[in-house]
Amino acid sequence: MLEALHGIIAELAAGHALETSLASTLDALRIVLGANEAGIWLGASSAMVRAWGAGPAQISAAELCAIMAGETTKPSGLVAAPIGSADRRVGVLAVTVMRPLEPEEVLLVTAVSHLIGPALLHAERSRRLEVEVEVRTAEIDREHRFTDTIIDSLPVGLYVIDRDYRIQAWNRKRETGMEGVSREEALGRTIFEILHRQPADMLRREFDEVFTLGRIQEYHTQSVATGELRTYRITKAPMRLGGSDVTHVITIGEDVTEWKEAQTRFAHAEKLAAIGQLAAGVMHEINNPLATIAAIAESLEFKLSDAQKAGAVISSDVHEYLHIIDNEVARCKQIVDGLLDFSRPKQQLRERVDLNEVVDRTLQLLEHHVRFKRLTVTCELAPNLRKVPKASGEQLVQVFMALLLNAMDAMADRRGAITIRTRPGPSASEGVIAEVIDRGHGIPQTELSKIFEPFYTTKDPGKGTGLGLSICYGIIQEHGGRIEVESVVGQGTTFRALLPAVEAA
Ligand SMILES: Nc1ncnc2c1ncn2[C@@H]1O[C@H](COP(=O)(O)OP(=O)(O)OP(=O)(O)O)[C@@H](O)[C@H]1O
Ligand SMILES: [Mg+2]
Repeated sequence: MLEALHGIIAELAAGHALETSLASTLDALRIVLGANEAGIWLGASSAMVRAWGAGPAQISAAELCAIMAGETTKPSGLVAAPIGSADRRVGVLAVTVMRPLEPEEVLLVTAVSHLIGPALLHAERSRRLEVEVEVRTAEIDREHRFTDTIIDSLPVGLYVIDRDYRIQAWNRKRETGMEGVSREEALGRTIFEILHRQPADMLRREFDEVFTLGRIQEYHTQSVATGELRTYRITKAPMRLGGSDVTHVITIGEDVTEWKEAQTRFAHAEKLAAIGQLAAGVMHEINNPLATIAAIAESLEFKLSDAQKAGAVISSDVHEYLHIIDNEVARCKQIVDGLLDFSRPKQQLRERVDLNEVVDRTLQLLEHHVRFKRLTVTCELAPNLRKVPKASGEQLVQVFMALLLNAMDAMADRRGAITIRTRPGPSASEGVIAEVIDRGHGIPQTELSKIFEPFYTTKDPGKGTGLGLSICYGIIQEHGGRIEVESVVGQGTTFRALLPAVEAA
């Protein structure tokens, strides 16, 4: 008997897994007492669950509760004792013995229940802790996943480095593209190993600046990593983890190519508008003296013929000079009118205009032009093109006329080909697109931003005023559209007018 007790104590103290200890404790009890069944119930007062052993079938829930509460009810054929201390009971140990028990045998059961108590209480506490840890871990996991998903969903490249320049975060966007690096590869490595194409000393300087100054740094950079030239806005932001010192630097790279282009377009439009206003003012000033010169030339002409009638001999040169004055004044007036066209508020645009018709009308007007006749003109006009709302057909003809004349000039020394193409655009605000494509001498990249400025011309003096494109620009803008140009020197130029379209019927 005592040996059995020793065995039980040894089992419990040996630090075996609780499961095996309790199972062998019950076995030992059954053997020592010659019992049929032995079992342990666990639970609260309202619900008891048998946790170990096979034991006693005949015990009721109410009896178990009473035993656990420390009441001395003893169902017949049973020895039972509460498990746990008086202030915290966790279960019941019960053994079925079909004979009267010796007092020491009852004592043994009670002693065993006392021995099991702390182990079970401890196990219960550990279990509660375990559950709590599991819940907290799941919560933290969820939080991590949430922030990871946010960072991965951002349409910007993002990474974080620590004080040793080691990468601690690397988002999905940085994994994609031609220079993409997988997260597994990047995490833990230094930024210099991963961004090995960039000069390490420059990178280090940029990061050190944020580490020491603790301020956000922002700059633009260009890259051809995607196969085309793109502009990126790089932002480096300090991060302070649990203190006032900068512990990490967050770098965000955002593709701002379209934004930058829009900015340039906007700046260009503003500049042109300013030039237009300035020119309009100047032109008004010039109009008056021009009118005076024209009137005086005319009255001189009259005076001369009167003098001639009166018998005076006048050199033919004088008539010639007056004729030149007249012609030159007319030319100035043409320029002034052209420029005023570009800058003054235009008449109301009312009609719905079919761009294909505009192209046809322009070609009819050019039909008899000697140089134009030598060109091969290909028309690719999209059928069922939506109309341009609130437009002026006259003005749009003027646009195509200017574009076609320029195309013709660009191919002056060759038998060139021009293609005029119309097609539907991607959105309502750019619903119709017209292109004039030539195979002429092209425009150098450095000049592209200037060609829409009034008076920009590369043509010989007297051949071009440099107003054609600036007027086109003004007209297209007034129609709510925009004009684009692409050109390769020696290969040709494409002018593209993008105009709004009426809603689809
Ligand atoms: N299709 C083209 N191919 C090559 N260069 C072009 C083309 N269109 C325009 N250019 C360039 O842009 C300049 C400005 O064109 P713009 O039509 O404004 O003036 P212009 O043709 O010189 O004079 P005008 O006022 O008589 O039209 C041209 O002088 C030429 O250098
Ligand atoms: Mg022109």
